Amino acid sequence: MRIGIVGAMREEVDGLIAEMTPAAASPAGMRTYHTGRLWGQEVVLAFSRWGKVAAATTATHLITRFDISRLVFTGVAGAVDPSLRVGDVVVGSRLRQHDMDSRPLFARHEIPLLGLAAFETDARLRRAVLAAARRFLADDLPARLAPNLLAGFHINAPRAVEGEIASGDRFFAGRAELEQLRSDLPSLSCVEMEGAAVAQVCHEYGVPFAIVRTISDAADEQAAAAFPRFVRDVASIYSHGILRNVLRDLTDD
Ligand code: ADE
Repeated sequence: MRIGIVGAMREEVDGLIAEMTPAAASPAGMRTYHTGRLWGQEVVLAFSRWGKVAAATTATHLITRFDISRLVFTGVAGAVDPSLRVGDVVVGSRLRQHDMDSRPLFARHEIPLLGLAAFETDARLRRAVLAAARRFLADDLPARLAPNLLAGFHINAPRAVEGEIASGDRFFAGRAELEQLRSDLPSLSCVEMEGAAVAQVCHEYGVPFAIVRTISDAADEQAAAAFPRFVRDVASIYSHGILRNVLRDLTDD
């Protein structure tokens, strides 16, 4: 069975398509699903587009039309934990939807009718992705990113950590919203716009999944300016290097 690879950034997916031995490209619902071999594995690769609906649509299509055995989602995120720096990597331990609020019918953040407020990622896949990310940062990054880019983004001894990720249909770009998010969900590592939607779909279909995010900004007033440059110059290099290590190592079971 194939592994589903979904990127939240078009740039990351384009870089992966270029590495693939292609089999077919199937358009559906304003996306293209690319099947083929990538670093020793049968994969199907897609750009999710942005936001929870887009990500859920992509994950559902991958599961129902391509019969994937596992799903790995990559992208960037804003730091919520103040110890995280631009260029660090967060591998999701669990995913929450920060904008889910059906009170008074259900507790805040609880997904109605599922009885869950967080989705756990698959322990084996997450460990494989974390190991792959750590190897990428230690062994590959210095050769893959020019010193002036590393210095320009203040990337110095970046870390890969496991952490809780929140998703919602909102780009965080201000101290006040960030502080509110920290106080609502104190155990969060980072925030993005897709992972928890993918997590809910994978949970509902029983598909093991992992989410990996590179910190692109501090979700503060500088976030909107930092984000596009980071996506253009850095994000694809990270996801390419991390996925290469993951796919080379994964075994079938
Ligand atoms: N993805 C990357 N940075 C983000 C931010 N600041 N808010 C939401 N999603 C993001």
